[in-house]
Order: sequence, then C-alpha cells, then structure tokens
Amino acid sequence: MAQEKNRKRVKIGLLGSGTVGGAIQDFIFKDQKRPDLDLEIVKIFTRHPEQKRWYSTYPKLFTTNPLEVVEHPEAEIIIEALGFQNDQQISEFKDYIIRAFKSGKGLVTSDKAVLARHGREIWDAAARYGQELRFEACVGGGIPIIRSLTESFAAEEPTAIYGIVNGTCNYILSEMAKSGKSYRVALREAQECGYAETNPESDISGSDAEAKLILLAAVTFGVHVQPGKLWRQGINKIHAMDFLYAAKKASCTIKHLAVARSVGASLQAFVSPVLVPRSHFLSSIDGATNAIFFKGRRSEDDASREQPESRDWNYVFVGPGAGGGATAVAVLGDVMDLARGRRQRVTGPPSLVAPGVLGLHSPDEILASFYIRFVVTDRAGIVGDICQTFGERDINISEVWQLSHSDEELRRLAAGCGKDIGSRKILPFVITLEPATVKQVKQALEIVGQQDYILLPPIWFPIWTD
Ligand SMILES: NC(=O)c1ccc[n+]([C@@H]2O[C@H](COP(=O)([O-])OP(=O)(O)OC[C@H]3O[C@@H](n4cnc5c(N)ncnc54)[C@H](OP(=O)(O)O)[C@@H]3O)[C@@H](O)[C@H]2O)c1
Repeated sequence: MAQEKNRKRVKIGLLGSGTVGGAIQDFIFKDQKRPDLDLEIVKIFTRHPEQKRWYSTYPKLFTTNPLEVVEHPEAEIIIEALGFQNDQQISEFKDYIIRAFKSGKGLVTSDKAVLARHGREIWDAAARYGQELRFEACVGGGIPIIRSLTESFAAEEPTAIYGIVNGTCNYILSEMAKSGKSYRVALREAQECGYAETNPESDISGSDAEAKLILLAAVTFGVHVQPGKLWRQGINKIHAMDFLYAAKKASCTIKHLAVARSVGASLQAFVSPVLVPRSHFLSSIDGATNAIFFKGRRSEDDASREQPESRDWNYVFVGPGAGGGATAVAVLGDVMDLARGRRQRVTGPPSLVAPGVLGLHSPDEILASFYIRFVVTDRAGIVGDICQTFGERDINISEVWQLSHSDEELRRLAAGCGKDIGSRKILPFVITLEPATVKQVKQALEIVGQQDYILLPPIWFPIWTD
C-alpha cells in the first residue's frame, strides 16, 4: 500500500494504435508493475478507433484528431508510433512532433523514417522548446543499442557500427540459404508469417535499413546523412544460385547489412547484401533476429612496451529487431527514463564523435572486393571479354567461379530471362574482384551490361572484410 502511494503518476499521449501502439496499450492497461511509476494514457490517436482492441473498454481515450494528443493539457510525454506511407505523411508526423515540443511535452518515437528525414528540424525544435527526445525503438527494435552507444560507450573511440538491422530481409535470406527457396517463395512465406508487410518495399529495397543506418551513423560518428545519399542495394535480385556460389566456392553466406565505418577522416556507409564468411558471427543470425556489431579502438598503456598499443574491441548486440512487444519495451524504457526525470539537454542526437569531425565518404568511392554474378548466353570468349573490360578500368579479377547446374535450375533461369532461349544455352558464373571502387565497378558493368550475351542484369555486392 505504502509502495502504491509512492508511485509517481505519469500521463502519456499516444499517436498511433497499430502494431507498436497496440502493444504499448497492452502493457499500460494490463501489465505494468513498476514499483516507482504509474503510467497512464490520457489520449490515443488513430483514424479508426472502433477497430482497436481497447476501444470498447476505454472509448473516451480514443480520438481521430492528433492535436488532441500532442496538445493534451495533462500529457507530459507523447509517444509517436505512426507508420508512414509517403513523404507527405512523414512531414505531417514531423509537424505533430514539433507541436508536442511546443506544447511543453517530452517525446519518444519508434518512427525511424521521420527522424532520418527530418532529424535536424526535430532536434532543433526540441532544443528551441527545451524538450527531450528519445528514439531507442527506432533501431534494432528491442535491442538497447542507442542507449549503449550514447552512454555505455561514451569513452570508446568508434571505428565501425554494422550489422543486420532489418528482420524481414534477414528472414528471407536465411530461408533462401537454408533450403534453396526462391526469393519469391521466401518473401511470400515471410508475409504469411507476419515478418513482411503486404507491401514490403521499404524493407526489401533497403530504405528501412538506410533510415536505421542514418540514425546509427549520427549517434556513433556525429555524421548526418540525408536519405538517398548512401549507397544502397536491396535484396530482390538475389537468386537461390547466389547462395550456392557463396557456400560452395567461398564458405560464405549472404546477409543484408547496414555498415558505417571510419576510414581516415571520413565515414564509409552503405546498405547492401554482403558475402559474409561462415566463420563470421553474423552468418549464424537467422530469421527475423537483428545483430549489430560495434567496434571501438582504445589505446592501452602497457608498462612492458615503449609505445601505447591500440586495440580494437568488438561488441555485439543480438535480439528481437521488430515486433510489437519488443518495440513497445524499447519505447516504454525511454518513457520511463523521461518520467524518472533523466535529461540529456543535447542540441542534436547524442553522439560519440563531435559533429563535423568526420565527413561522409562519397558513395562512388567506397572501396571493396566485390562478388559479381553473370547470366549469359553460353558461347566462347565471354569471360575473356568481361575480364578485358574490367582490366581496362584498372580492376583486377580475383577469381572466376563456375558450378555445374541441374537442368531444372537452368530451365528456371531460362524462363526468368524472358527470352526464347534453351536451358543448354544459358551460362551462370561469378567473378570476384580485388578491391575496386563502386564507381569503377558501375562503369565497367555499364559497358558489359550492353553486350548482347547478357541475359540478366549482373548482380554485384561487396565481400566482407574486417
Ligand atoms: N512493427 C515493428 O516491429 C516496428 C519496430 C520498430 C519500429 N517500428 C516503427 O514504429 C512505427 C509504427 O509501426 P507499426 O508496426 O505499429 O505500424 P502499423 O501497425 O502500420 O501502425 C501505424 C500507425 O500509424 C497510423 N497511420 C498510418 N498512416 C497514417 C496517416 N496517414 N495519418 C495518420 N496516421 C497514420 C495508423 O493509423 P490507424 O490506426 O488509423 O490505422 C497506425 O496507428 C513505424 O514508424 C515503424 O517503422 C515498428
């Protein structure tokens, strides 16, 4: 009883009543057991109140007017858990957030798209109105990565942050790797299991991962990137045979990674499928799980050495990257942080490196070893022709890989080419490159892509190197 009395009551306005908003309501209406806090929802915005599961119990809490939430006189903290469909909607959501700050509320969001696109304006508004912003749920769902980066690693010198940040892509690629399913079948299964939206575009195109990487790069390296400025590739062109080449020729698998690493005074950042060695921890991350590596460098003074030695440290965060429950946990962790009075009072996203120290590497200048898979008409001289085109652009070929394919595989490939060609006439093969820039590879592939022997656009992506 005494404990009940000591609990601080905190009133919350909630924008959104979808997967995340619904899970937040479940927690607050039936599960909360915090000894020190009593969270109370005072208003919920949704366009369809009567369809929501808590509507019949609390009809008066629901509104179709978002301003009744962000300007609610009793709400101290606003949660924004809205999902966007287009740029105009993202801009509207940004306006709600700024209205909340203007009305004197702290804000917690799970909406990475609005922060990636309008982060600067949002952070400026938070500073202008003296309000707090938290966004743990925006990256890695339930994994506490933002707090770890900004608080626990405050003394680290970051050198890289990378990993699997989109559970939908990872589920699809894991299924293709495990059982040789086609991309289409794996996507359909992901949709049936609820891992992929009916419209999966933002996941499979890499734009969801890009928004998360933008936030990770801001928090880790103080580099602010606008959406569309990173080198980004999705997963929809990956074919089951790519996993065969990866496994049989290089003991690798394919993972869709978001990568940001410092190279001298600049930051190299990209989202792409990557050929990952089976010996790398990320290759074992299956299904919708997320896994994020953080690499830091520390000088260590050792009395036995004349010079301090620099050491790289690897930390890895693994957990449920999505789902209403996991995401709600991250959102409510932020809410409780604010409710307990913790203040950051920063004028932008908290970051380990001061903004402006690192510049963004031009996407064209990203240097990597690459995997390129071709599907061509089988005739003499093609491999030589391709190698010559690459050689003329100073790109060294590392290896040429060829596997024998079953008639069935070749027949399916021939059908996918949309040309009248027999399976015996079709030749898939892979070349791997020694380090080259994205620009060099693009230029060479532009020439090769125009040749009459090319049956499918070549697929290319980096080979992982630490
Ligand atoms: N689901 C996850 O696992 C997860 C994980 C991490 C982060 N997130 C992020 O959290 C946010 C919410 O995700 P969710 O999974 O809960 O999405 P969701 O189930 O699709 O729900 C989206 C919510 O946004 C509202 N909404 C959509 N378009 C709107 C518009 N034009 N105007 C006003 N409201 C609109 C919907 O309103 P109605 O109620 O009227 O339909 C719904 O309440 C997203 O930004 C998402 O990226 C999700």
